[in-house]
Amino acid sequence: MSSIVFVNGSFLPFEEASIPIMDRGFLFADGIYEVSAVLNSRLVENDAHLARLDRSLDQIRIANPYTAQEWTRLEEELVRRNGLVEGVVYMEVTRGAAERDFAFPKDAKPTVVMFTQVKNITRAPAAETGVAVVTVEDLRWKRRDIKSVALLAQVLAKQAAAEAGVFEAWMVEDGHVTEGSSSTAFIITRDGRIVTRPLSNAILPGITRQSVMRLAQEHGLKVEERLFTIEEAHAAAEAFLTSASSFVMPVVEIDGKPVGNGRPGALTRRLRQLYLEMAGAPAKAA
Ligand code: PDD
Repeated sequence: MSSIVFVNGSFLPFEEASIPIMDRGFLFADGIYEVSAVLNSRLVENDAHLARLDRSLDQIRIANPYTAQEWTRLEEELVRRNGLVEGVVYMEVTRGAAERDFAFPKDAKPTVVMFTQVKNITRAPAAETGVAVVTVEDLRWKRRDIKSVALLAQVLAKQAAAEAGVFEAWMVEDGHVTEGSSSTAFIITRDGRIVTRPLSNAILPGITRQSVMRLAQEHGLKVEERLFTIEEAHAAAEAFLTSASSFVMPVVEIDGKPVGNGRPGALTRRLRQLYLEMAGAPAKAA
């Protein structure tokens, strides 16, 4: 965890930071968040994360307290103060603290919190072996495109994954995979098509998803945005998930069944390498 955190304009030691119990983030999950990766002490795809943060705020009608430039300066300062080399910056904005009442308060000032977490993203052992996922019912609301801090359905999904001893839960609605509890889901068909669900209110518009799709297309790979079923995932040649905190992570088992030969697939490994290069990771022998 960060030793220095950012709360409402100040950089503070973690132990000295606090939020009022009347904060609407705490009482109503009335807030949104973002997570940007840090590699070699530099933010990865941060402009896109800040654009999504701005959109999430706009959708729930909270005025963005900072410009993208101000956010970036504050994040960079937090990374510097924590000496973070590789990991993530977490940012959260809530509607602020006010007397408990469901409708928007008149004069509340948004609460802004940031902290960092150390994480081994580029050399994660799981990326070498691939990870297992289980499927669970998607219990979420109808605006999953907003990066809301109302994450109870995802907490339950991730707990189901933890209890099954696997890395992630893929959520399913009407027989189709929506996305992971904190990641985007992809499969690769036996004829080499990279398939992921199209953007809509049903999923978060993943920043890593967008870049991986672009990199795939730039390298002549076929990308298909369409719904896919659990059965199709079980029968896929390869599978992977993407997120700011994992980049491209091979999925080698779904619901206890091996994907392909049960090892990270060649196309998945290629996409991970392309993303690592784009993100500025040091070159690695193949
Ligand atoms: N999660 N879908 C969901 C539901 C997510 O929570 C995330 C990210 C993604 C991937 O989005 P991106 O590529 O922009 O990180 C997809 C972050 C990492 C988290 O909650 O920690």
